[in-house]
Amino acid sequence: MNSMNNVIILEHPLVQHKISLMRDINTGAKEFRELVSETAMLMCYEATRDLPLKTVEVQTPVAIARTKVISGRKLAFVPVLRAGLGMVEGAVKLVPAAKIGHIGIFRDPETKNAVDYYCKLPFDIAERDVIVTDVMLATGGTMVRTIDILRKSGVKNIKVMCIIACPEGIEAVHKSYPEVEIYCGAVDEGLDEKLYIVPGMGDAGDRIFGTK
Ligand code: URA
Repeated sequence: MNSMNNVIILEHPLVQHKISLMRDINTGAKEFRELVSETAMLMCYEATRDLPLKTVEVQTPVAIARTKVISGRKLAFVPVLRAGLGMVEGAVKLVPAAKIGHIGIFRDPETKNAVDYYCKLPFDIAERDVIVTDVMLATGGTMVRTIDILRKSGVKNIKVMCIIACPEGIEAVHKSYPEVEIYCGAVDEGLDEKLYIVPGMGDAGDRIFGTK
């Protein structure tokens, strides 16, 4: 793991290997979808490292064990539609009790502004820590808008989990929300004129859902 200014890059060999497979243009939708889910599970392991624990007593077949369980605030995952959905299955495998909210945002082709068209959050979202999932952190506009919505809904502790980030996206998120930790598998070079991450892995939504 390599961290700098609230950017945590997961350098675990399994994460890096899976990202290389995802980058490959010849990886089809089924495999791509599985890799996104598996990578999200590995990332979630790191992003939940600071969950608070409390000690409880459990009767084992041999004796009473003083042992630890997760305590305190509960978690919610909030995927950003569409691509972020692909990360949810892997993440909830690790935290099955987490609730799931959905936020849909598109970029207005004229103004280039991020516009939200769908938002459904758990009723108790303000009492939960939130991990936002999106596969690519590109311009950061969508992520900033997502965090705006979560903050307005009363969420205090927000983390971002994306598989590939770029400097522009990280800068945009941290300009508005420097305290938000960004967990990612790679920080690529930057954006091209079509706002794709370079080298990236193309349109993650299309590759997950096989729409192109
Ligand atoms: N969204 C994607 O799916 N891919 C990119 O490269 C940038 C944004």
